[in-house]
Amino acid sequence: MSLFITFEGGEGSGKSVQAKELYRRLSQLAVPVLLTHEPGGTPFGKKIGRWLKWAKDTDISPLTELMLFNASRAQLVAEVIQPGLKSGKVVISDRYADSTTAYQGYGRGLDLAMVKATNKAATQGLTPNLTVLLDMLVEEGLARKRTKKQDRFERETLAFHHGVREGYLRMAADEPERWLVVDASQSKEKIANIIWQRVSQLLSS
Ligand SMILES: Nc1ncnc2c1ncn2[C@@H]1O[C@H](COP(=O)(O)OP(=O)(O)O)[C@@H](O)[C@H]1O
Ligand SMILES: [Mg+2]
Repeated sequence: MSLFITFEGGEGSGKSVQAKELYRRLSQLAVPVLLTHEPGGTPFGKKIGRWLKWAKDTDISPLTELMLFNASRAQLVAEVIQPGLKSGKVVISDRYADSTTAYQGYGRGLDLAMVKATNKAATQGLTPNLTVLLDMLVEEGLARKRTKKQDRFERETLAFHHGVREGYLRMAADEPERWLVVDASQSKEKIANIIWQRVSQLLSS
């Protein structure tokens, strides 16, 4: 049974940890599953992602960011996500289109209708069955990543990150049937169990 699950949230909220854990649990049950991530997930998308995160130029415009994330995403949908779903797999993505609404829309301040329309074009309207929002205090999430080298987004102001968090919470409130909001300050295992409960429901329905 094909199912598309995405992980969203701010820096250090545990998206990568939880996406991998869900992948591990499904694999253990021999459920056909594929794990991917954004930006990247394809050879071409990886190059775009590197520009976006590590470009020395700090004046990349918000509109350019919007287009580049969506260029990477269009390739990921066509090359990985659609084929995975068509072959009956559970596809897990560590970030997806909602990241762009949160970061380039709510964070950078681009017009939300334009951001959503651009996302829709890039994804061909493909929307996740479940989106897990790992929500926590911005400062605590950033603190978890302090020891590693900071990319262009991690180096952004606290005001930017607060905008991103607010955006995510609004999106989740607007579409409660798609989003599962989890308090990301809990232990890794507790969070994994909450997510597992929802995913097993979806798999058996
Ligand atoms: N629930 C948690 N409690 C404590 N530390 C966590 C938790 N989830 C993740 N971490 C740690 O926080 C850091 C960032 O986690 P990561 O999954 O990379 O976040 P993200 O992908 O959302 O940026 C890692 O060092 C990870 O081990
Ligand atoms: Mg990550």
